[in-house]
Amino acid sequence: KEATFTFHNGVEIPNIGFGTWQIPNEEAYAAVTTALENGYTHIDTALAYQNEENVGKAVHDFGLAREKVFITSKLPAQIKGYDETLQAFDETISNLGVDYLDLYLIHAPWPWTEIGKDCTEGNIQSWKAMEKLYNDGKIRAIGVSNFSETDIQALLDTCDIVPMANQIPFYIGRDQESLLSFCKQQNIVVEAYSPLATGQILNSPVILEMAEKYGVTPAQLCIRYCLDRETLPLPKSTNESRIIENSQLNFTISPEDVKALDAIEDVRDN
Ligand code: A2P
Repeated sequence: KEATFTFHNGVEIPNIGFGTWQIPNEEAYAAVTTALENGYTHIDTALAYQNEENVGKAVHDFGLAREKVFITSKLPAQIKGYDETLQAFDETISNLGVDYLDLYLIHAPWPWTEIGKDCTEGNIQSWKAMEKLYNDGKIRAIGVSNFSETDIQALLDTCDIVPMANQIPFYIGRDQESLLSFCKQQNIVVEAYSPLATGQILNSPVILEMAEKYGVTPAQLCIRYCLDRETLPLPKSTNESRIIENSQLNFTISPEDVKALDAIEDVRDN
């Protein structure tokens, strides 16, 4: 049986997802097909990525039964409100050519053009729409992305359903300690996007040295680190050999080495 995380409602999610952020629609068909051919069964997209159409086509053409593929998409960060959310959801499932989603996330607590803006009321209205879609059986699990503890707490205070996931940037050197423990307390699965820091930590001497110790590549060490921190990595690649490499994680990092990696400061290039 494949390895999974389990949401608080019992729904299981395969423990590595294929990230499609920054994969243009023209390349998404080939990339997702390659991922599916190599055993990925969990694909992460978003309306904002503008590739849902070819992500959906690739999944459809690959021919697995719908329930054998876990599909996540996201409500665009600038769309806040009840009706607006129902509408955006319809657009997403129509783009993807599916009749339900496995996981639907609020992409961010604020529009990307106004990072930090207080959109609490809008987020609550969007969340209520997502609860309705969930209760109607259109989505198997609902969650958030880029949410802080405060952002999540606002939903906990006013809404019925505790988010099942929070998708955040997480990689070696990115301290998310307090958010991670908050999510754990609330039974919220943390998904790690940019587990390779978009490729910017793969030349770090500390990471190179430890990868060598385990006989793996720096990318494999980074992705394994996410799993060993109980987060669900979503590596992105359009290259076949790297897509394969990123899913071959048949090793674990010792607790002492995980601690050593936790202690590393920001090691991104530049
Ligand atoms: P490419 O798509 O050409 O493979 P993240 O998942 O953190 O967003 O990182 C994605 C970036 O890392 C992309 O630029 C991707 O390039 C690169 N990348 C993905 N997998 C690997 C790998 N195994 N080795 C080196 N670079 C990788």
